[in-house]
Amino acid sequence: MKKIAVLTSGGDAPGMNAAIRAVTRTAVKKGWQVFGVKEGYRGLIEGKINPMGGRDVAGILQRGGTFLGSARCEEFKTEEGRLKAIRSLNGLEIEALVVIGGNGSQTGSLKLFEMGYPVVGVASTIDNDLVGSDITIGVDTSLNISLEAIDRLKVTGSSHQRAFLLEVMGRNCGYLALMSAIAGGAEAVVIPEVKTDPEEIAHILRVAYEKGKSHAIVVVAEGAEYNAARLAEYFESHQELGFALRVTVLGHVQRGGAPSAFDRILASRLGAGAVNAIENNEFGVLVGWVKSKLSKTPLADVVGKTKEIDLDLFELARILD
Ligand code: ADP
Ligand code: F6P
Repeated sequence: MKKIAVLTSGGDAPGMNAAIRAVTRTAVKKGWQVFGVKEGYRGLIEGKINPMGGRDVAGILQRGGTFLGSARCEEFKTEEGRLKAIRSLNGLEIEALVVIGGNGSQTGSLKLFEMGYPVVGVASTIDNDLVGSDITIGVDTSLNISLEAIDRLKVTGSSHQRAFLLEVMGRNCGYLALMSAIAGGAEAVVIPEVKTDPEEIAHILRVAYEKGKSHAIVVVAEGAEYNAARLAEYFESHQELGFALRVTVLGHVQRGGAPSAFDRILASRLGAGAVNAIENNEFGVLVGWVKSKLSKTPLADVVGKTKEIDLDLFELARILD
C-alpha cells in the first residue's frame, strides 16, 4: 500500500479544500493511505501529520480556506529545515508529498524535489501568477468577490457622485485587477505590469465626470507602484477630479469566499491529477490547467519565472471604459 501526504501552503485560496478532498479520495480509492499535514511546511517540520480517510474530508467541498491550515514558514527556506521535513515524512514511511500552493510554495516543492524527495505540486493561488497553469485554484472565486465589491461601490457611488479607488489583491501580479476591471466595467485599471501616469487616470476621471457619469471606479492592484493609497495622496495634492474620491481596500475579504463551481471543479481535477502523477512516478511537476486540459509542467520550468499578463486585455479594459 502506497503512503502519501498532502499539505496546503502560502496564502489560502478558495478551492484548496476541494483539492485536498480530491487527493484524499482518489488515493483512498486506489487503496493507498493518505496523511494530512497541518499548517503547511511548518507542520511538516514539526511533524503535525495525521492519517486521513475518505470520511475525514466530508463536508469541506463548499468551504473556503483550507481545513488543514496554511502557513508561511521561514525555516523551510533553509536546508536544515527541509531536512527536518524529510525526516518527518520518512519517519512515517510516506513515499510522496502533494503541495497545494502558489509561487513560493512551489519553490519549496522544487527544493524538496532537488533534495531527492518525490513531490507533486498543485497550482493554487488567487494571484494567478504561476507559470504552468493558465488559471489557478481560487482565482475565479476571488474575481467574483471583486465584482460584488464593484457592483456595490457603483450603487453608493451613484448616490453621491463619487469615484472609488478599489484596491484588490495580487502581490506582484495585476491579473485580478485587470480581470475585475473588465468584468466590472471600471473606468480605469492600474497594474504593476504597465507603467501608470496618475495624470492619465485623473484625465479619465475628469472626462467621465464631464460626460455626466454618476460614479467612476478605478481598480488598482495592491502591487502597483501607485497603489490606492499613493494614488489618493497624489490626487489630493494635484488634481480637481470633479468626483469626490474614496478609497476601498478589499484586503483579505478577497480570499475568504466559498469556492465557486469553477474552482471546485478545477481543484477536484487538479487534486485527482496529482494522485495520478504519483501513480505514474511523475515527480517534480506542477499539476495545472493549460489550454483547457490538465497539464504537468516540470517545477524547474515554473519556479523563478513570472507569468506574463496579456496586454491585449489591458487594451480591452481601456477600450471598454
Ligand atoms: P505562496 O505559495 O502563496 O506564493 P509564499 O510566497 O508565502 O506563498 O510561500 C509559502 C511558503 O513556501 C514560504 O513560507 C516558505 O515556507 C516556502 N518557500 C517560499 N520560498 C521558498 C524558497 N525559496 N525555498 C524554500 N521554501 C520556500
Ligand atoms: O499570494 C496571495 C496573497 O493573497 C497576495 O495577493 C497578497 O499580497 C498576499 O497573499 C497577502 O499575504 P498575507 O495573507 O500573508 O497577508
